[in-house]
Order: sequence, then structure tokens, then C-alpha cells
Amino acid sequence: MNKDVIITEAIEYVKDLFAGNSDGHGADHTMRVYQNAKALMESYPEADGFMVLLAALLHDADDHKLFNTENNANARAFLGKRDIPAETADQICTMINAVSFSQNRGKTPETLEGKIVQDADRLDAIGAIGIARTFAYGGKVGRDLSVSIQHFYDKLLLLKDEMNTDAAKAMAQKRHEYMCEFLEEYYKETGMERP
Ligand code: NI
Repeated sequence: MNKDVIITEAIEYVKDLFAGNSDGHGADHTMRVYQNAKALMESYPEADGFMVLLAALLHDADDHKLFNTENNANARAFLGKRDIPAETADQICTMINAVSFSQNRGKTPETLEGKIVQDADRLDAIGAIGIARTFAYGGKVGRDLSVSIQHFYDKLLLLKDEMNTDAAKAMAQKRHEYMCEFLEEYYKETGMERP
């Protein structure tokens, strides 16, 4: 099993899978989560990098908001065609299912690898990219700006305290402060009251 080749193929696979989806939850999001996971891995050399990177790349491949699949069918369609032990493929799917935000609010993956992938995903919801994604999504579903602003208080500002790893906590702190600055400026410019 050539791990580098499999990772490269996984990148191609998810780019094809998400082709045409540009609401902040597509291939671009997956690639940022992959990059975040890579950055976090530098602090955790004891973690299994192959599993972390594959799970990061495939973490939204069966997201219910985007795909009508069951039992990680899209992830397994990729993993099953590669020279990957069945046990490893199962572990990767278990990690993916533990990471999903909508299903697992407040739940913590059991393994270090799962924790890293969950942190990598959550980091992409905050900071400058979190702001951009919130308004892109809000525009897509026709939300009033004030509803998107409320989303910061309901979810985004809570995420820094929900990071599993210390490395992610440090990255999250910076992104959190940036969101707070954005909100301050937003209230100043608009004269709106904070929710
Ligand atoms: Ni995600």
C-alpha cells in the first residue's frame, strides 16, 4: 500500500465528488480541513497521519446535507478500491462518523486521530474563513444578515472551547479573537445592538 499515492487519489476523488458545490461545504472546505489536519499533525507525531489525512479528506463524503448515502457509501467506494486493510477502512469510517458536527454536537471522538480531524473541521468554521462561510451560506438560503450574526453566538463563538487538542486550541484562539474584532466593527458601522 503506497500511502502517498492513496492520499493523492483521495484528493482527486473528493474534488470530483464535490464538483459544483460551492456553498462553503464542498471540496474547498474539505481541502482546508485537510490542511488544518496536516498542520495539527506536526504537534502530534504519535498519531497515525495516514488515517488522519484520509479521514479529513473523506469526512464530508457522506454528509447528509449533501449526499443521500448510507453506511459511508461514498467513503467506502473510495477505500474499498484501494489496497487498504478492511480494518483500517472501518476505523476511518468510525472516525468520520465521530467527527460529524451536526450529529455529534458536544461528543468527543475516542482516538487522538479522531480528535485531530474534528478539530481540523471545527477550525474551518471560525476565523476569517468562518465569517466568509457564514455569510455565503446565509445568502444562499436567503437569511437576513442579523440571522447570520446570531449564528456567531449560537455556534461559532463557542467552538474555541470545544477544541480537543492543545494545538487546535491555540489556532482557535487567534481565529476567535478575529471574529470578536469583526463583530465589534460590525456594530460600530451599523449602529446595531449586539444580540
Ligand atoms: Ni466538514
